[in-house]
Amino acid sequence: MTMIRPEHGEHKRHLLPFIVPSIITFTILGSMVVYGFIQITKLNKNVLSLQSDLASTTLALTQNTHQISQKFTDLNNQTAGLSSTLTSAQQNIDAVKNQVGGVAQAVGTMSGTVGTLEKLAKVDPQLLKKYSKVYFMNDNYVPPHLTVIPPEYTFSETKQEQFLSEAYPYLKNLLDSAKANGQTLYVKSAYRSFQEQKSLKSAYSVTYGAGTANAFSADQGYSEHQLGTTLDFMTSGLGGSFTGFDKTQSYIWLQENAHRYGFVLSYPKGNSYYIYEPWHWRYVGVKLATYLHDSNLFFYNLDQRDIDTFLVNLFD
Ligand code: DAL
Ligand code: ZN
Repeated sequence: MTMIRPEHGEHKRHLLPFIVPSIITFTILGSMVVYGFIQITKLNKNVLSLQSDLASTTLALTQNTHQISQKFTDLNNQTAGLSSTLTSAQQNIDAVKNQVGGVAQAVGTMSGTVGTLEKLAKVDPQLLKKYSKVYFMNDNYVPPHLTVIPPEYTFSETKQEQFLSEAYPYLKNLLDSAKANGQTLYVKSAYRSFQEQKSLKSAYSVTYGAGTANAFSADQGYSEHQLGTTLDFMTSGLGGSFTGFDKTQSYIWLQENAHRYGFVLSYPKGNSYYIYEPWHWRYVGVKLATYLHDSNLFFYNLDQRDIDTFLVNLFD
């Protein structure tokens, strides 16, 4: 059999259309592989770099978080410390406040006491003493200030009457109030000096005898009239006589109202000193007079010690 061998050149000519594209394809693919490899390598590096960055950032963040947490704890501790300092400062302030309050109270009490003592120092303690055969007044005792009672208030149109100046406004108010309520009250006899009382008592003793006179007239030095705070009232319709005074509307008005002006009846029915003298009233201050009126008591029922506690309020 005859083999037809293609010519060597012809053979190559037949292969060429396959070889060239293959080479090109191979080259392109190779290039792509190399390029891909290079890119993958680059990406790998980037990933590693990013991982490294991430790790260091995470570490830094962890450290920062730890530091912040530490600072937060420190801050918390400082806040707790400040809060406790604030609490103890507040306690100190409260303690100081209490001390200041106590001192202020003590100062207030002291100034109140000083005020009371000052007030007491200005009041004559004799003004609330029980005379009437109990205490003897110095024969030179004269009230420090005497006010002449205007004639419109006195029973006698000629005889002048005087009253302790500090107590006079209370008497005037009483007389004005009585008048406003339809009562005709007058001052029959008010301040009497030691000498006046002596003369009066002597005259009564001559007229009525010493025994009788002693029942209605005090010896000099024992009369409340010497204080300047005591008076005998008179009303119209009796002709200047005290007889029947207790039956008058004026007396009833006095019984119901005199305490509001600081006056008390010295010698009620059944007293141990003198006869019943419904006309004889003494200024003892509104507080004591009201207390006696409301308790249904009389001045001479009280102990001198209890009476003296009202001295500070004598002219209130
Ligand atoms: N009539 C009274 C008791 C006096 O003389 O003071
Ligand atoms: Zn009298």
